[in-house]
This record gives sequence, structure tokens and C-alpha cells, in this order.
Amino acid sequence: MEIKRIFLIGFMGSGKSTLGRRLSHEMGWHFEDLDDLFEKKYQTSIETYFKTLGEEAFRQAEKEVLKAVLAEERIIIATGGGTPCCFDNLEKMNAHGLTIYLKLTVDTLAKRLSGTRQVRPLVKGKSGEELIAYITEKLAEREPFYEKANVVVDAEVLGVEGYIQIIEASGSLMK
Ligand code: S3P
Repeated sequence: MEIKRIFLIGFMGSGKSTLGRRLSHEMGWHFEDLDDLFEKKYQTSIETYFKTLGEEAFRQAEKEVLKAVLAEERIIIATGGGTPCCFDNLEKMNAHGLTIYLKLTVDTLAKRLSGTRQVRPLVKGKSGEELIAYITEKLAEREPFYEKANVVVDAEVLGVEGYIQIIEASGSLMK
């Protein structure tokens, strides 16, 4: 299979964007962050969008952003934490490229999410036990989707080189 797109999927705080940028640098492919594309397309922050129109509207709009990147080639896409869990988004990504799930434990995710200044509407204001309880519940709900990725990676241990080996082993890359 010729791989034209790589989709990084996983919970909020799993490092999809950081990894995507590094892979883009190493592979010479284009990088896009779905959240950034969303904010550009709708000319508002995700936080404001959630506040004014709600999550359901956000999911519909996010689906449109995903649709647009499916037409691009030689691209690495960091998706939003909820993207693969809505509509047939995951099936679409699996059909258009290689999906990689960056799997992390609840504890690591909680640590990462507490240590960031980035505003994420779903975890805003949550910390300590409340944050851990939220991640535990949400991750259990989402993992059945995440686990349908082509590749599931232990993101606690794998470095960029490891990802590149996996990608190369998964199919021929578009030059
Ligand atoms: C969301 C994750 C966010 C963003 C939105 C909703 C989610 O993206 O799309 O706040 O439902 O998990 P990141 O995973 O990049 O934080």
C-alpha cells in the first residue's frame, strides 16, 4: 500500500502535534494540526466555538475540516482527541492513510494535561482527582475507537525513530 497521509490519533495531551511536527521535519512531509485548521476555517477559537455553539456543532464542523485534509497528499495530520470517535471519521482516515494511536496511561495524560497552558474546553477547570476521574471515564469510552487504528503505539517509550520505522514497515511512502 502506498501511504499518502498519516493520521495521529489519541487522547488530549498525548503529544500528537509535537510528534507530527517532528515527523514532518524528518520525513519532509507537510504537517497540519486539525485544531489549528478548525480555528482558521471558522475564524474563532475552539473554546469560543464550544461555548457559543456547543459540542455537537463542533463535531459537525470538525468533520468538514477532516474531509478537506483527505484530499491532500504527503501530509501528517494531528487530529483532535475526539475526532476518531465521531461519525465515520475513523473509517475515513483508515481508508485514506495510516492511522497511529499514541497510547498513554491515565496518569501520564493527567500529568501532561495539568502541566499545559493550552485551553481545552473538555478539561478546563479540572485538576487532581477530578481530572483523573474524567480521563479514566472518557478514555474507556474512546479506546474502542482509538484501538481500531492501523497501528497502536506505546507512546511512553517510542521515540521519533521508532515511529519512522513503523511507518516505513507499514507500506511504501509517497515520494
Ligand atoms: C478534544 C480535543 C482537542 C480539541 C477539542 C476537543 C476532545 O484536541 O479538538 O478541544 O474531544 O478530546 P487535542 O486532542 O489536540 O487537545
